[in-house]
Amino acid sequence: MAYNVRRKIIGKAFVFVALQAIAAVFFLINGILAQEKSIPNHGSFTDCQMCHAEKYKMWESTGHSKTINRLVEAPGVNADCYSCHTTEGFAAKLQGNKVDLAQKDSLHTVTCAACHKPGSGDNPKMLVRASDKICSECHSQRTVLEGKGAKGVEDTRSFHSGVSCVSCHMSEANHDMKLFRPDDPKTPDPDTCTRCHNDNNRKMRAKQLPEWQEFYKEAMDPIEADMAAISAAIKEKPDLLNADLKEKLNTVRANLFIIQRDGSRGAHNLDYALEIMALATKDIKIIKAAIK
Ligand code: HEC
Ligand code: HEC
Ligand code: HEC
Ligand code: HEC
Ligand code: HEC
Ligand code: HEC
Repeated sequence: MAYNVRRKIIGKAFVFVALQAIAAVFFLINGILAQEKSIPNHGSFTDCQMCHAEKYKMWESTGHSKTINRLVEAPGVNADCYSCHTTEGFAAKLQGNKVDLAQKDSLHTVTCAACHKPGSGDNPKMLVRASDKICSECHSQRTVLEGKGAKGVEDTRSFHSGVSCVSCHMSEANHDMKLFRPDDPKTPDPDTCTRCHNDNNRKMRAKQLPEWQEFYKEAMDPIEADMAAISAAIKEKPDLLNADLKEKLNTVRANLFIIQRDGSRGAHNLDYALEIMALATKDIKIIKAAIK
């Protein structure tokens, strides 16, 4: 009996010491890891490429490294354009200001410093806005995810309306802003979709995404052909349409522009895109009948 009790006590003491040893090793490893990941004070840094070569290369491959070029030949350029197409303009926009166009030759494209304020602790990752807000300061895709804005079409929310841009476009803090598509055989597991939908059914996601984009294309191709034909007819005879039909055509154009500009070809909100295209098809029929 006494032997057993002693053994239990010794046993407990042993477990206690062992746990403490494990904890010590754990804290030691944690300390080493923390040290390895310790972030130098970024306050004085201006050259990011030197230490973040991989992020730089990814960024360089995107339109973000060329946003300012868009303003070279675009018509109607004004100070507003610089708010989303340059680093300095974006900084001014976040303060409620605009850049002085007299300085336009010294402005920079959307660089690291557009999104990150080196040394700042206002947001995680030194971001100038929280990661779930920053993209929509310049991009309009959120309204498509929310299914809002088209005239004559009921609001149609996507099931992804609550998902941030970053969760899909930067799922590994990848700065090329590209999804790891489930249907791309070069994508290693997990792809972006399956990462979130942890039903582990990549096969199903690999079917869904291209299907959305095919449905979109099937509906959009004939619409774009019709719109081109209508534009050509009007160019030849400018007073072909009466005021009512002109307004109809303008609404069709504005509605289509929402989903064309979105750029995802139905991936952000297929239902909404299909609603917009169904209405456009109906109105185009009326316009075509009138000009025959
Ligand atoms: C002298 C090297 C060096 C330079 C220059 C540098 N960084 Fe870093 N940065 C690091 C290291 C080291 C870390 C921590 C490890 C990691 O996340 O890569 C880090 C981390 C970061 C992080 C993540 C912070 C976090 O909270 O996790 C961001 C964002 C960042 N850097 C942005 C920048 C930007 C923008 C610039 C240019 C203005 C820049 N860095 C210049 C070395 C540098
Ligand atoms: C300061 C404004 C600004 C911010 C902030 C911004 N973008 Fe952009 N983005 C642009 C502009 C302008 C373009 C168009 C580039 C072009 O085509 O010239 C663009 C293009 C893109 C493209 C198209 C692909 C490409 O390579 O051109 C994607 C995808 C994208 N941005 C995703 C994002 C995501 C995700 C975020 C948030 C992390 C974000 N952007 C934040 C201005 C911004
Ligand atoms: C609110 C932010 C914002 C403002 C203001 C802005 N742009 Fe853009 N621009 C973008 C974004 C973001 C893109 C990339 C397409 C997208 O994702 O919507 C873009 C794309 C473009 C493109 C590429 C072609 C296209 O249409 O996709 C051109 C050209 C362009 N912008 C010119 C201009 C001009 C000219 C102005 C001023 C009259 C302007 N932009 C004002 C954010 C803006
Ligand atoms: C359009 C906005 C945008 C631009 C431009 C941008 N970043 Fe980022 N960056 C982000 C966002 C958003 C995150 C946070 C992603 C997340 O939360 O997973 C981030 C995260 C990071 C991180 C942390 C990565 C990690 O693993 O946590 C580093 C380092 C970084 N960026 C460096 C850079 C450098 C260097 C550049 C320029 C070459 C740059 N960024 C340009 C938006 C941007
Ligand atoms: C549920 C995931 C998801 C969310 C959330 C999401 N996107 Fe996308 N986005 C996609 C997919 C999928 C595509 C199509 C990519 C392709 O064709 O390979 C796409 C395409 C795009 C494109 C066109 C890409 C190009 O190369 O021209 C832009 C720009 C874009 N998204 C911006 C955004 C912005 C900004 C947000 C946040 C308001 C956002 N996305 C939210 C999945 C998402
Ligand atoms: C950041 C997380 C996240 C990512 C990434 C994501 N989803 Fe979702 N998805 C959600 C949420 C949240 C819902 C809405 C809740 C629900 O209905 O389960 C949803 C709903 C859906 C639905 C409708 C409901 C269902 O499960 O059938 C489909 C289909 C879907 N997602 C497919 C995709 C595809 C394809 C991708 C990749 C392009 C993707 N998702 C990427 C979070 C995500």
